[in-house]
Amino acid sequence: MGVVIDGRNIANSLKNAVKKEVGFLKLQGANVCLAVVLVGKNPASLVYVKNKKKCCEELGICSKEVFLKEDVSQNELMEVIEKLNKDGSVNGILVQLPLPAHLDEYEVINAINPKKDVDCFNSLNVGKLFTGSSVFEPCTPAGIVDLIKLTGIEIAGKHCVILGRSNIVGKPLAIIMLQQNATVTVCHSKTFNLKEHTKNADILVAAVGVANFVGEDMVKEGAVVIDVGINRLSNGKLCGDVNFSEVKRKASFITPVPGGVGPVTIAKLMENTLKSYKLQN
Ligand code: GUN
Repeated sequence: MGVVIDGRNIANSLKNAVKKEVGFLKLQGANVCLAVVLVGKNPASLVYVKNKKKCCEELGICSKEVFLKEDVSQNELMEVIEKLNKDGSVNGILVQLPLPAHLDEYEVINAINPKKDVDCFNSLNVGKLFTGSSVFEPCTPAGIVDLIKLTGIEIAGKHCVILGRSNIVGKPLAIIMLQQNATVTVCHSKTFNLKEHTKNADILVAAVGVANFVGEDMVKEGAVVIDVGINRLSNGKLCGDVNFSEVKRKASFITPVPGGVGPVTIAKLMENTLKSYKLQN
């Protein structure tokens, strides 16, 4: 039976460290501030933005939400970003993705001042991440590495198989895992013989966005299984990309959904917000 990794507990220890430093800065009269831009009313995005705001409040970080209408123009959105770039009281800027189809996501993300880019999505920061010289790391992949390491699991030398090649999770995670000296395989929807790859994984990360995609027949005995998926079932319940009850029997460690990768991702965002303050002060 696999050990269930408690993401909330790990997130709390990361958040406590941030809270302490933010509190110390407050005593000196300094404020750390995160601006979150949300376009439209995507239900999942509304939940994420609400959770980010709540976490900021918990840690004493000032949060500024900018809500824009679904039909906002590219120019209007670019002006909002420019204003936040220039605003000295704003340290970090996050534009919640996905954006409505009429907007150019790439142009918007690249307009964010790289020193305020707490998501690490800006091309300059992605390039730096590639060479291991980025100040920021994207929150979900960085959170996954923390989840594994803080559980006491060694990454170096292990075979990490990643399911999914998104710009937010799969691709940057592959780079970060390489930096951690893992051997990395990235699989995706066009991969032949998927099971042959996943059954070789010492560390298996599922980020495909399909409920219960990973069954026990895809997992090696004793593997560490990290579930990035957040899928809502027709009965309203949340579930991950991994068939938890099945895979738990075979894994050595497994993350639950909810309560696994999600809370640690937000904790990493708080760390990055503090970093963005330090970069500007
Ligand atoms: N949408 C889903 N995940 C993320 C994330 O990590 N950052 C942003 N900005 N949008 C997202």
